[in-house]
Amino acid sequence: MSKDNAEKAAERAAQLREEIAGHNHRYHVLDDPLIDDHEFDELMRELTALEESFPRLQSEDSPTRRVGGAPLPGFSTLTHRVPMLGLDNAFQQGELSEFDRRVHRLAGLEQVEYLCELKIDGLAVSLQYEEGRFVRGSTRGDGFTGEEITHNLRTIRQVPLILPTPVTMEVRGEVYIGRDDFEAMNVQRRERGESVFVNPRNAAAGSLRQLDPRITASRPLRIFLYGLGEHRLSVETHAGLLTYLEGLRLPVNPHRRLCGTIDEAWEFCLLWEEKRRELPYEIDGVVIKCNDLVLRGQLGNTARSPRWAVAFKYPPEEKSTLVRDIVVNVGRTGTITPVAVLEPVFISGSTVQRATLHNEDILAEKEVLIGDTVIIRKAGEIIPEIVRVLKEKRTGAERDFRMPERCPSCGAAVERLPGEAARRCFNPSCPAQLVERIVHFASRRAMNIDGLGPAMAELLWKEGLVQDLADLYYLPASSILDLDRKGIGEKKVENLMTAIEESKDRPLHRLLFGFGIRFVGERVAQLLAEHFLTLEKLRESSLEELTAVPEIGPKIAAAALHFFEAPATAKLLHRLKQAGVNFKEPVAVEAAAGEKPLDGKSFVFSGALEQLTRSEAAALVAEQGGRVSAAVSRKTDYLVAGDKPGSKLERARELGVAVIDEHAFRELLEM
Ligand code: IVH
Repeated sequence: MSKDNAEKAAERAAQLREEIAGHNHRYHVLDDPLIDDHEFDELMRELTALEESFPRLQSEDSPTRRVGGAPLPGFSTLTHRVPMLGLDNAFQQGELSEFDRRVHRLAGLEQVEYLCELKIDGLAVSLQYEEGRFVRGSTRGDGFTGEEITHNLRTIRQVPLILPTPVTMEVRGEVYIGRDDFEAMNVQRRERGESVFVNPRNAAAGSLRQLDPRITASRPLRIFLYGLGEHRLSVETHAGLLTYLEGLRLPVNPHRRLCGTIDEAWEFCLLWEEKRRELPYEIDGVVIKCNDLVLRGQLGNTARSPRWAVAFKYPPEEKSTLVRDIVVNVGRTGTITPVAVLEPVFISGSTVQRATLHNEDILAEKEVLIGDTVIIRKAGEIIPEIVRVLKEKRTGAERDFRMPERCPSCGAAVERLPGEAARRCFNPSCPAQLVERIVHFASRRAMNIDGLGPAMAELLWKEGLVQDLADLYYLPASSILDLDRKGIGEKKVENLMTAIEESKDRPLHRLLFGFGIRFVGERVAQLLAEHFLTLEKLRESSLEELTAVPEIGPKIAAAALHFFEAPATAKLLHRLKQAGVNFKEPVAVEAAAGEKPLDGKSFVFSGALEQLTRSEAAALVAEQGGRVSAAVSRKTDYLVAGDKPGSKLERARELGVAVIDEHAFRELLEM
């Protein structure tokens, strides 16, 4: 290779990187692309090819390397040299005036300028640039130490890997997910049978705290920058800083206003209280900051927040509406949930027609009657909930609602097990539960029937082809043609039939897990299958025999008995047997070491989890080969932090133990 060629390649690569950075900025920051996606891909391809032919050109900050590296074993912590403080909140105009008076008093000035910005509802992060290169990024954490998430921040296209000038500084801002992206992401997750995120903020948090940057890269994260950490820039005003950042191609929110008085700032707050619904992302208020940076230095900070800024927070929108009816919904495991059918109202950006009442205890607590006028709002701006009943509006025509004694879908008797809030339908052939149950039965860790996802399950049920799990093994040959006519390709149907046929040979523990019996996850299914070896033996066993199995307690045993005693189960098992589905567990062969995803990993839980109980979470960890301990030590691999995590979290931070939230935990378990 001649030096000439190598030199030319280096020049071209530098030119391409500059061009690509420019197009990224126009596309992701200015929303004003100059070229189409295809042309952009061409530039990326050319650069990739050059870097492959001339490995010396490869560098960390090349746009070809945004998503790079293997998943991390855990997060490391990073100390903020300048603490990342929070903000004092104001909820009323009076509190803003008070803030303004204090600023004037402390500054000894007649006139103070404020810069008002939108308060983006996301997660605070810090980005460090050295000589114009993005070198490190972190979460806010507790304000003093955060988690290093450089690998994840790099995947956000709006974050330039190289700045147009070689500045060294720490910039701070908010990572968020837009409303539409959030909706689309949840639709996709629902389709795949994954858990959905409650709101864009949680989705952004879960996405940022991934150990595998490829997962983060697949999430639609965006960012706005609004401040500095450690730096040696000579800017004088906040307005000047924001313009400077824009000049560096960093994304800065365009909706801001320089105000001469606090009254003007108040007007800005009022303006955006209405207009915020038109924004493609969520804001929860307005941040009012002193514009003069020297003045800021004079005002200083309290322990938790700066004296030079305040956040005006919008109250969650509340509206009154009528409860037209109360109906019940039947979930996958047969949980019967009461749901209020509302007179449609437009609230926080969408029309709401239903609100969950969770369970009969909560229903009783809220004292909601059919015909009541109620106040509703969206929890986390997304999930509609009834705040309270306007009892003064009652006319006497309201009707009480009683939870049904029978399942509205199949008519089977519903039961409330002792110690549980929910009533359930235990009929394994209940149609409402069926689609969800088919999907679970066919899932990878159960019977592993490829091609039988939610859409196909729904179709099979709608076509009347599957009314019971056993029907999967009795699909008439003519149904192939029928499905073919419905636009499902012949090949796809054929593959499905083959996959169903192959699933007949799965070991008993997968079949057991596939039934979706309450509390019978993979681990429990394995224990039961290994102990009883055949389904016949298992179904004949008594409560005592079940609880005699190590790790099986009365709760699991009762749930299993319930399932096996249901009349519909007898029929289901008989038909599965007739179809040739395997009911035996192969005699255990010692599992190869390192086979399970969490082998040897140790977990500590702290605070309440949202979607799992502690014992469920612990069982899941054990199922995948991990251990759960009560206290954090140097040997702990992960601290799973739920709501109000307490002192264990501090201990984990001190020891540099990876801290993950529930979403990241579920990702780790591939749930
Ligand atoms: S300034 C020292 N500006 O709000 C002041 N914060 O409640 C640091 N936030 O932790 C914050 N938009 O996560 C600032 N335009 C904005 C903001 C903003 C959202 C968040 C940020 C901060 C929290 C404080």
